[in-house]
Amino acid sequence: MADKVKRIGVLTSGGDAPGMNAAVRAVVRTALDNDIQCVGIRRGWNGLVHSDFFPMDSSSVSHILSRGGTILYTARSQEFMTPEGRDQAVATCKLLGLDAVVAIGGDGTFRGALELSRLGVPVVGVPATIDNDIGCSHYTIGFDTACNTAIECIDKLRDTMQSHERCSVVEVMGRHAGFLALYVGIAVGATAVLIPERELDFQQDVVERIRRSRLQGNTHFMIVVAEGVGSAVDIGKRIHKEIGIDPRVTVLGHIQRGGSPTARDREIATRMGYSAVKAIVDGSANSIIGTHDGKLIAIPIEEALAMTKHLQMERYDVLEAMQV
Ligand code: F6P
Repeated sequence: MADKVKRIGVLTSGGDAPGMNAAVRAVVRTALDNDIQCVGIRRGWNGLVHSDFFPMDSSSVSHILSRGGTILYTARSQEFMTPEGRDQAVATCKLLGLDAVVAIGGDGTFRGALELSRLGVPVVGVPATIDNDIGCSHYTIGFDTACNTAIECIDKLRDTMQSHERCSVVEVMGRHAGFLALYVGIAVGATAVLIPERELDFQQDVVERIRRSRLQGNTHFMIVVAEGVGSAVDIGKRIHKEIGIDPRVTVLGHIQRGGSPTARDREIATRMGYSAVKAIVDGSANSIIGTHDGKLIAIPIEEALAMTKHLQMERYDVLEAMQV
């Protein structure tokens, strides 16, 4: 049995994701339910470096379950990357008497978590990123909301593309991964989806698809491009050059990171936040909470960071099958 945990910190770091607030709420309320005090750390690891914190009680997380963004603010801390910055962070943890820190974020956040844990501060990570690109977890908080936001935007684009009989090239986020693009592409019935996990054959993957679609009688086309593939503007220019049509290009950008989290994101964020505190109480800190076939497990950070996750290419086959 681990020593009694008295006080923990909670922070959000990296790009924000809808559902981060739900996770913060769950951490605070689960801590209180276990007689543990909770301290909110502002602006990710920067908050520990600069002693930017505030005590949190149950009411400090009231009415945030449905809010996008993060009430704790977020940042990608350069200072925490330096040994001096990390020493300052450890000093803050000591000063506040933090027995552990819950860090909600993505890959960069967890690399920071590993560094802090090596300096003797127990950390538990909660995966939250719209990219869904965390190897140790099938699902990351925010992905579902981002998919729905992108779908809503693309449905609207389709209305005007259909009226004007145009081709639309839409760039979605995802950093180096194509999860968002492929899920969204299937859900909007895209003519083509370009993802970094698949080598691009422009003739086959774009030109031929548009051509086939036209031969089937369609007069508007929807091309979804993952940002990891390159610029949608360049793809648009190339389409124009190769087949003479004049596409309209839309970069959805940061709109995909906003909005009220969906039911899926609220539910999983609440369970993940709960599990993070439970891991601390049970003496399983220095871990990342991951979803595996619907279950949540705490995986040791180092092991978790070495894990990889591949986009299931069967989904690409599904997309193709819809284009007969
Ligand atoms: O990791 C989340 C994400 O939104 C990526 O999809 C995107 O590449 C990146 O963050 C954008 O970062 P920033 O907010 O710094 O522009």
